[in-house]
Amino acid sequence: SDSRIVVVGSLNLDRTYRMMQLPREGESLHATDHATAPGGKGANQAVAAARLGAAVSLVGAVGSDVAGIELRDAVAAAGVDVAHVRQDPEAPTGEAVIFVDAAGHNLIVVSQGANSTVGERDVIDADIDAGWIISGFEVPDAAVVAAAERAHEIGARFVLNPSPFRALSEALREKVDVLVLNEHELAAATGSAAGTPSDAVLRVAREALRVPLLVVTLGSHGAAAVSRDGVVRTPAVAVTAVDTSGAGDAFTGAFVAHLAAGDSLDEALRRASAVGAYAVTRRGTQRSYPTPADLDTWLSENRH
Ligand code: RIB
Ligand code: NA
Repeated sequence: SDSRIVVVGSLNLDRTYRMMQLPREGESLHATDHATAPGGKGANQAVAAARLGAAVSLVGAVGSDVAGIELRDAVAAAGVDVAHVRQDPEAPTGEAVIFVDAAGHNLIVVSQGANSTVGERDVIDADIDAGWIISGFEVPDAAVVAAAERAHEIGARFVLNPSPFRALSEALREKVDVLVLNEHELAAATGSAAGTPSDAVLRVAREALRVPLLVVTLGSHGAAAVSRDGVVRTPAVAVTAVDTSGAGDAFTGAFVAHLAAGDSLDEALRRASAVGAYAVTRRGTQRSYPTPADLDTWLSENRH
């Protein structure tokens, strides 16, 4: 059905180490805190959307280890259908080591594990029936392209968050309906200067990328959506950052959840931006994502 969302993406066990300052090369230091929690960009996006009440399925893979079972259970407990999260017999569950400093800045190193085994077969086996398909670059190109092709076949909208960033093949780019980038990815994708883009720069970027809808998250400058009709912007909710990891995933999942629920572009952008801001004020990735009630309470307590 049209409001259904399928994410073809990654699941990782996130090992987060908090520290005053990120280490420099050759430096050893003590973490102030360590936590292990479910993550991975695909799972994060799926959970963010499910928390908002969307009907979401995740297509991906974990290892046949304890971590894999726990990850799948955590994502299922958040309301995501995990029937197509395969347990790979050989590869270990994906892991991410995340360093977060006192200002909430992070460094992430991902060991792909089972995510690198996700392919066309998984997408075909999932027999996807959805109005929206989201994918990203923590799973191989073959899976992303298959997801895009399936979207095309069934008339679903294909949303791509090409993160961690690499250049898009032409075959993939031409199937993208919604491209979600942060400002660094925008600069990398268009070869434009880093920094907060003007409306004119955004319009040129969308034309260069040749996508119907370009969505750019701009940190403390909010977010923008660019279509042939022009640029829609939303300001950021001002927050003190605790942990920015997974905020982009929260934004993407929430943005699609709102569009899938039939909300306007303007409303989807505003709510997704608020979900991203909420996530930044709490530790962890998935576990920091709000329900609509959490979000409304928080927004009313934080009138700026
Ligand atoms: O975007 C945040 C995610 O990136 C983390 O959950 C981690 O798993 C890495 O993949
Ligand atoms: Na967070």
